Amino acid sequence: MTNDKEAQRTAVARGWREATEAALYGPQGFYRRPEGPAGHFRTSVHASPLYAGAVARLLSRLDAALGHPDEVAFVDMGAGRGELTTAVLAALPPEVAARVRVYAVELAERPADLDPRIEWRSTPPVGVTGLLFANEWLDNVPVDVVEVAADGVPRRVLVDGDGAETPGGPVDGPDAEWLARWWPLGPEPGLRAEIGRPRDEAWASAAAAVKRGLAVAVDYAHTRDARPPFGTLTGFREGRETAPLPDGSCDITAHVALDACAGDGAALLTQRAALGALGVRGGRPPLALASSDPTAYVRALTRAGEAAELTAPGGLGDFGWLLQPVGVALDPLLAE
Ligand SMILES: C[S@@+](CC[C@H](N)C(=O)[O-])C[C@H]1O[C@@H](n2cnc3c(N)ncnc32)[C@H](O)[C@@H]1O
Repeated sequence: MTNDKEAQRTAVARGWREATEAALYGPQGFYRRPEGPAGHFRTSVHASPLYAGAVARLLSRLDAALGHPDEVAFVDMGAGRGELTTAVLAALPPEVAARVRVYAVELAERPADLDPRIEWRSTPPVGVTGLLFANEWLDNVPVDVVEVAADGVPRRVLVDGDGAETPGGPVDGPDAEWLARWWPLGPEPGLRAEIGRPRDEAWASAAAAVKRGLAVAVDYAHTRDARPPFGTLTGFREGRETAPLPDGSCDITAHVALDACAGDGAALLTQRAALGALGVRGGRPPLALASSDPTAYVRALTRAGEAAELTAPGGLGDFGWLLQPVGVALDPLLAE
């Protein structure tokens, strides 16, 4: 590389948080593109309608715990193209569907053919009674990356538009405090961490939309006892994992320190446990059904396969569910 090119790269290098913000949400950003997230990767929402069914069940249980209010809200935070919002609305029992007010909170434009009952907004509504649900939102809240340098000091990693990284200054202030509390790094050069502070703040702000009810965040997650030593920052493009290039051509994502996001009274579960409590399990249907009702058997087998994918160890089943109750007890909502 020539010195000129080096100088140019250094001139545009910035922290990963700022670079990701522009790459995902700037005017030409990845999430502004017409194909939407589903054009590049599958979430639990796309894997099976059982997922929306479980969220609808959770909302119905919450509605009962809230005493069947005149209006119960469902807020889909980071709604993509409204796939979960639409499917939850369809899966609700009529007595809840008649009272539900449904919001899709999303930075991208409203899809043209969306159900008119869905309110499309760029920020959450304020003071709702009901359920706010954020599936794979927090992993797309941009974060800075730090790497331990040769002198044993964690330095902010700077990145240019080609994805080339250079070390920046040492971390101080609230970011250093966050690292010390939630992701302490040893002195070995090359260790990396992602500073989750913007996600803690984003989650606290979104959950504050709920006056009474429940806020749930579901994501790839890790906890303080098992942080990945080199971080998890990566990219996705057209169904494939790729290098994270901050040029708007791919998704840029990193697993979420969900324990740091958790507020007072919150619980952390695996997706396997949460979906199990909501009636989604991967067991095979009884063989006897194959002869008594072959059609029902095939249908049950399909459901079992989809449930297995949603709850698979090493896959979607290991996702974290952060459940943040506001003025309701959590246990009855998760009683099997
Ligand atoms: C990985 S996608 C998940 C989409 C959907 N929830 C699903 O599970 O299929 C994350 C979505 O969050 C949206 N998003 C990110 N930050 C947001 C914010 N501050 N407010 C609203 N939407 C946001 C992105 O535009 C993107 O559509």
